[in-house]
Amino acid sequence: MSGANIPVLAVDGPSGSGKGTVGQQCALALGWHFLDSGAVYRALAYLIRINDININNLEDVLDRARHMDFECRPAPPDAPEIWLDGRLAAAELRGEEIGKQASQLAARPAVRSVLLDLQRTARKPPGLVADGRDMGTVVFPDATLKIFLTASVKERARRRYNQLKLKGFDVSLAGLFQAIQDRDTRDSERNVSPLAAAEDAVTIDSSDLSIDEVVTRILDLINNRLAIEGIDINGQ
Ligand code: C5P
Repeated sequence: MSGANIPVLAVDGPSGSGKGTVGQQCALALGWHFLDSGAVYRALAYLIRINDININNLEDVLDRARHMDFECRPAPPDAPEIWLDGRLAAAELRGEEIGKQASQLAARPAVRSVLLDLQRTARKPPGLVADGRDMGTVVFPDATLKIFLTASVKERARRRYNQLKLKGFDVSLAGLFQAIQDRDTRDSERNVSPLAAAEDAVTIDSSDLSIDEVVTRILDLINNRLAIEGIDINGQ
């Protein structure tokens, strides 16, 4: 199977829409690989921080990005395991501060362009579920199925609050509401790869749906699409 023939399920959406949880469950159900592309930007923000690189020094930032050894392994019900340079980087990547720095890095076209190849190498047989902001629009424009998963800011703040509390982070609901709103604005208004549904994406509002309901809906859609395109994932 050549790269372009490997099926991709792209799940894009704003922070807290549930795309990570949903994406992992779809990947496991399909037996496909999984890419948490937000973790790629978070990983870079983290590496920059621990290596004392100045975030405004573009050359040093790009150099670190070029040499990033990144691997994403599904680990439901939590966020996926992220391996950096052969070491498990878990909770360090998940805080709001790293998320904010990730989103500042993600607004720089040169950074996005360096990280594009790294993301595309995740497309391996028998298939890939990729979650992020621009999976369907930029990274995998030929994806087999594109989902744009969304939810109200209030519901997303509530979900993020519960997630972070469980991990022991000291957060406030009002603070998260504001942080999510700010991040939405930054991600949607940037010039390069802004957060937006692809024209051919199926939009699902998950505000009043359970994770299982969203997963079932997406699996029905992808299985239909694979059947229409004559792709037999078991036979490949
Ligand atoms: O999804 P997550 O919150 O982990 O992403 C962190 C940040 O990385 C986002 O706010 C966004 O700015 C950036 N990002 C991106 N493109 C992606 C995935 C994430 O710009 N495909």
